Amino acid sequence: MKVGILTGGGDCPGLNAVIRGIVRKGEKHYGDTLIGFADGWRGVIDGEYSELTIDRMRGTLPRGGTIIGTSRVQPYMFADGVQRAKQTVEDLEIDAIIAIGGEGTLSCSAELFREGIPVVGVPKTIDNDIGITERTFGFDTAVHIATEAIDRLHTTAESHNRIMVVEVMGRHVGHIATWAGMAGGATTTLIPEYPFDIEEVCASLQRRHEKGRYASIVVVAEGAKPKEGTLDIKPDEYDEYGHIRLGGIGNLVAHEIERRTGYETRVTILGHVQRGGAPTAHDRVLSTRFGVAAIEAVHDEAFGQMVALKENEIIRVKISDAVAELKFVSPQLWATAQQFFA
Ligand code: F6P
Repeated sequence: MKVGILTGGGDCPGLNAVIRGIVRKGEKHYGDTLIGFADGWRGVIDGEYSELTIDRMRGTLPRGGTIIGTSRVQPYMFADGVQRAKQTVEDLEIDAIIAIGGEGTLSCSAELFREGIPVVGVPKTIDNDIGITERTFGFDTAVHIATEAIDRLHTTAESHNRIMVVEVMGRHVGHIATWAGMAGGATTTLIPEYPFDIEEVCASLQRRHEKGRYASIVVVAEGAKPKEGTLDIKPDEYDEYGHIRLGGIGNLVAHEIERRTGYETRVTILGHVQRGGAPTAHDRVLSTRFGVAAIEAVHDEAFGQMVALKENEIIRVKISDAVAELKFVSPQLWATAQQFFA
């Protein structure tokens, strides 16, 4: 078979490991010809690609980013985008496309499957917000990076008796914040699923600091929101692809904490550090499993389906079902995390 691979949306540790898994099994086991489209769906629209071979994939397992490039461009952004994508599939005699992406890339893939393009999906995102799959690759790496940062912030916070606010990524969900907050022993964590009351946050910090010389770590998910009417926040901003541009809530929270409590407060916004660099061992293994399972799905003609992790096994689900709803932090995990708040 001739199989095209693309990576769409924000980059994520483990993308190259997925591609390597596909190429290894595709070339060695099935004798496939594999190509990588440049910059996600943009390469399919423009017919831009490069060959992917076992040889080319050497050394890429631990490498962050994606060797074939990524973008948020989708065929539906152009009047003739879908038609051009279909033309590329026809001209290059592509039997299937494996789309490795997050919510945006996968939703588009589900639509294109309905239009007749044979697609198999692989869920990617540090945010871990894709439905049905228990985990997306990249999440474990992001949590490790955020946890290490929190560990480091603890010692400087303690030396100065300060409050440290750490803003982490996650878009509309608080998986990274909840996990890194629990792993790093945060004083409190604010996530989008449960709007916060800044008065309550400040009161709990005050109680803790009044007891003696304490430093505090407040983890804030970039999508965290105050309870309605409690704090003014800036209106949402979007990038040129209509993708929400979050970030900055940490500054507001830090400013309010210092203003209301009088305790010296600093903010660290971890930003893209969380998704750069080498994937963890866990993400390398999950990515490899997803890659191998994706090329197997192609050979079973399981088009319109996505590989997913369930009870530690790789299963297949409809892409459209997986993107129907975001996966939120479970109330049970949140209740456990809350046990450790100030
Ligand atoms: O979805 C992954 C993610 O890293 C989010 O956590 C974050 O909000 C967004 O992408 C940032 O996107 P960009 O790279 O366009 O700034």
